[in-house]
Amino acid sequence: MNIQSVKKVSVICLLSVIFTMFTGVVMAQPDGKQLFKNNCASCHKVDKKSTGPALMGSKQRWADAGETEYLYEWVNNSAALLGTGKSKRAAAIFAEYNKAAMTAFPTLTKEEIDAILDYADTPPPPSTDVAAGSDIIGETDKDSSGSSMWLIILAFTLIVVTFAALSVRKKIAYVAAAQNGEDVPEEKTATEKLGSWIMKNWLFALVIFVVLLFSGLADGLTRLASIGVFEDYQPSQMVDYDHSLHAGTMEIDCRYCHNSVEKSKHAGLPTTNVCMNCHAQVHESKKGTGKEEIAKLHAAAGYDADKMAYNKDKNGNVIQGDPIIWNKAHNLPDHVFFSHKQHVNVGKIDCMQCHGDVKSYTLGRVSTTQEINALIDKNPDLGIVELTKPILTMGWCIECHDKKEIEVGPSAANPYYQEIHNRLTLRPDVYKKIKDDGVVTVKELGGWECAKCHY
Ligand code: HEC
Ligand code: HEC
Ligand code: HEC
Ligand code: HEC
Ligand code: HEC
Ligand code: HEC
Repeated sequence: MNIQSVKKVSVICLLSVIFTMFTGVVMAQPDGKQLFKNNCASCHKVDKKSTGPALMGSKQRWADAGETEYLYEWVNNSAALLGTGKSKRAAAIFAEYNKAAMTAFPTLTKEEIDAILDYADTPPPPSTDVAAGSDIIGETDKDSSGSSMWLIILAFTLIVVTFAALSVRKKIAYVAAAQNGEDVPEEKTATEKLGSWIMKNWLFALVIFVVLLFSGLADGLTRLASIGVFEDYQPSQMVDYDHSLHAGTMEIDCRYCHNSVEKSKHAGLPTTNVCMNCHAQVHESKKGTGKEEIAKLHAAAGYDADKMAYNKDKNGNVIQGDPIIWNKAHNLPDHVFFSHKQHVNVGKIDCMQCHGDVKSYTLGRVSTTQEINALIDKNPDLGIVELTKPILTMGWCIECHDKKEIEVGPSAANPYYQEIHNRLTLRPDVYKKIKDDGVVTVKELGGWECAKCHY
């Protein structure tokens, strides 16, 4: 293989890498999983009946009925399609589900609907959901940034291989020239070499430049995308639970439902039984709404609202339905250690500092730093620290650990801090600061040490 063909092959390889990246970035496919979660998951499961039928195989079912075209009309507006009376499949499924109305999605495009149904047709990857009341947190999706990483590594390897091949060729030519007693080209500095190499191989250099540009861009875009997901994120849920009603109007304590928040790493999400403490009696709101949502609780708990009794088998065990799975809004990566107990019980930090005004939310969501800063004036007694970094980023944790002051005087209310105080007296440098102003920050207690937060 001569230099020319090495170059040709690498140019072709690099061009194809660029092409793959380009198509990946610019013509991003609609994300079926996300669309499903945001729009359909409240009524549909992929593989099981829920409020609506399991979506797996529905494309095939409509194709079998010879009504593939109507399927898109169905999702865009099922009532309108039923109105025309032209679709037998629509009429049949509507009757099968006791004429329950499906929400209309007029803005979903054909591609997006395809993406959702294709997602439903492939067995779902390991889920990121937490079963109610469980302590297990699933893996986070990191595959999108992973693939662009591989492309960068591939491009980089190609460049290195090409350079190596070129320099070997050069050495051989050099040795051959010396043996023949010809003029040996004089040694140049590295920059001169690079300069003349770029002049001679401008096309190749351009390709490398474009590859680097795009890999940077692709990486930047995926990062940007994942920043948006953290703040102001409110996943849809199977049951339309409402914090503003329960924690707001009815003033139920957060700890009644998130009952491990003072005892463990996780705050915990309530099991259906917690809801049933009240909803065995409450079947709808005073306004007459919520019947359908509360019926889902009854189905999961195995409760017959008409008989006001749990369904039992002949041994007297309750026959439960499918459990309610709450989708998580907050998701720290697996390599991070965060404990509610440490912050709520020891640090005495109010939920509002990290979660915002939950009493005004419907479903749980990730708040934003701006929203939380705006709460400071309205709640002067909560000691909310003003922060600038986006919630759930490392910068956010670190910034608070630098700003949050802790009273650790010998007469501190919390015996934990008296004990820390006693230990700090052994560190004159830190102790001097305490004696002067009576406060230390989390940072001074070791809150900036990598190992405190990383496994
Ligand atoms: C408010 C609840 C609700 C939501 C949200 C919802 N659906 Fe439905 N869906 C239903 C019900 C109920 C049926 C059964 C037919 C009926 O009674 O209308 C159904 C039926 C269907 C069917 C027909 C299935 C078959 O096998 O024939 C498809 C396809 C479908 N839904 C797709 C979707 C998609 C895609 C979304 C999200 C973009 C979605 N649905 C969101 C309630 C819902
Ligand atoms: C110092 C900040 C901070 C405070 C204070 C705080 N949380 Fe959290 N909370 C977090 C973080 C960070 C997560 C994400 C944890 C994860 O993904 O592992 C989280 C997650 C949660 C979750 C999801 C389930 C779980 O355990 O991961 C619930 C529910 C919750 N918090 C409720 C509360 C309640 C109720 C309070 C007040 C009693 C509270 N939090 C106080 C930072 C805080
Ligand atoms: C301490 C009692 C209590 C607990 C615990 C409780 N609820 Fe409720 N819930 C109520 C009452 C009372 C109402 C009706 C309020 C009204 O009449 O306006 C209600 C209403 C609702 C509604 C209907 C809202 C509407 O706008 O129509 C839903 C849905 C609901 N609850 C879900 C849940 C879920 C899910 C849980 C468990 C996580 C739960 N509730 C736990 C007392 C409770
Ligand atoms: C009656 C039960 C109940 C009460 C009271 C309640 N919550 Fe929740 N909370 C839930 C349920 C159920 C979910 C999961 C569904 C959702 O996201 O809304 C949840 C979700 C959350 C989440 C999002 C967790 C995640 O990452 O997925 C946070 C944060 C949260 N609650 C904080 C609070 C705070 C703070 C309070 C008190 C002001 C409170 N909750 C009171 C039932 C409750
Ligand atoms: C609003 C302020 C605040 C935020 C935000 C915050 N922390 Fe903290 N953190 C504290 C305070 C106050 C303490 C001190 C409790 C104590 O004395 O141990 C603490 C203590 C800790 C400790 C124990 C340190 C030690 O010395 O034992 C760890 C670990 C920790 N935080 C991790 C995190 C992580 C991870 C995050 C981000 C996901 C985070 N924190 C976000 C205020 C905060
Ligand atoms: C107070 C808690 C805390 C401390 C101390 C801390 N980290 Fe982190 N770190 C986090 C959190 C939370 C994340 C996850 C941020 C995210 O997902 O955006 C993180 C993410 C990271 C990442 C992954 C970056 C990425 O883009 O995902 C690296 C690498 C890292 N930390 C290194 C360190 C090193 C090195 C130190 C010590 C100098 C350190 N961390 C100290 C909380 C902490």
